[in-house]
Amino acid sequence: MKIVVMGAGAIGSLYGALLSKAGEDVMLLVGRPEHVNMINTRGLTVKGVLGNHTFPLKAAIDPMDVDQADLVLLTTKTHDSIEAAMRVGHLIDGGAYLLVIQNGIGTEKIVAEQLRSRRVLRATTCMGAIMTSPGEVTITGTGVTEIGSHYPENEEIVKKVVGLLQRAGFDVRASDNIEGVVWTKTIVNCGINPIGALTGLTNGEIYNDPLLRKLVIRLVEEAAEVAAAMGIELTTPDPIRYALGTAKATSENTNSMLQDINACKRTEIEAITGEVIRNGKALGIETPFSEAVYALVRGLEARLLQLSESCSEIAPLSAKELHESMTKS
Ligand code: PAF
Repeated sequence: MKIVVMGAGAIGSLYGALLSKAGEDVMLLVGRPEHVNMINTRGLTVKGVLGNHTFPLKAAIDPMDVDQADLVLLTTKTHDSIEAAMRVGHLIDGGAYLLVIQNGIGTEKIVAEQLRSRRVLRATTCMGAIMTSPGEVTITGTGVTEIGSHYPENEEIVKKVVGLLQRAGFDVRASDNIEGVVWTKTIVNCGINPIGALTGLTNGEIYNDPLLRKLVIRLVEEAAEVAAAMGIELTTPDPIRYALGTAKATSENTNSMLQDINACKRTEIEAITGEVIRNGKALGIETPFSEAVYALVRGLEARLLQLSESCSEIAPLSAKELHESMTKS
């Protein structure tokens, strides 16, 4: 199968690497030239819990360099989804299916609308990965990938993609309740991610702190109440236990929202807590704890973005200035 990974950050690169190892024809589309150059010259190195391997892969920046595909994995951050999907629109028009693998609620529906296509599948993943340097990804944890589609006619292709990922070594299953899968995962993210982002703590450290654990429970309760009022059928009967269990099971992880904060990047708070708050408002459900962490994460993001802008505005010292500043007594 010809597979394109659009927005191959840590998670996308990992899926691309294992699919290529399974014999699929994979092209990674990446925004950062240093990552592209490294992959094309030295291959993609995947380190971490599955061992150390280097995969010979192809990478490019411009989606127009690819004229045909059978499957496109969309693995960008949620706030980049629409632009990224439009940039691979020619591949979907040409017959490819789009598999959205992201955190958060509803991006696959917006993308399907924008592309005017129902050839859209959605997945959630519990794989953890970080980009440790250009051309190098470290797997921090393994977990299940669940795939489904809002469009019943995609049942067969969902099964095919599940088989493809299983052959590549992923723990993957098909779901006919993708809305429930997405909400269940998002409720976990609502409980853990903003707290990690605001405190800098790992999932395990959050779990082990009684006050923070209590806050996880409040956030999960609010999100689960909204989901219940929307008639969403969660995939767990006990979302609090599930969220705390996930925090414990992924205790070494710095969650993805904290990784964004550490990299001075915009977070996915809008597609996670923001969606819960907005849906709650529409239904007259109060979500005070969610609103508080949402406002704090937005504030922290604003501060970090200001700092990173002002940092890039400061011109580096010339070699002469640097030498002078170091030799001044
Ligand atoms: O976003 C994340 O980091 C993950 O979804 C999870 C499950 C919270 C583990 O860190």
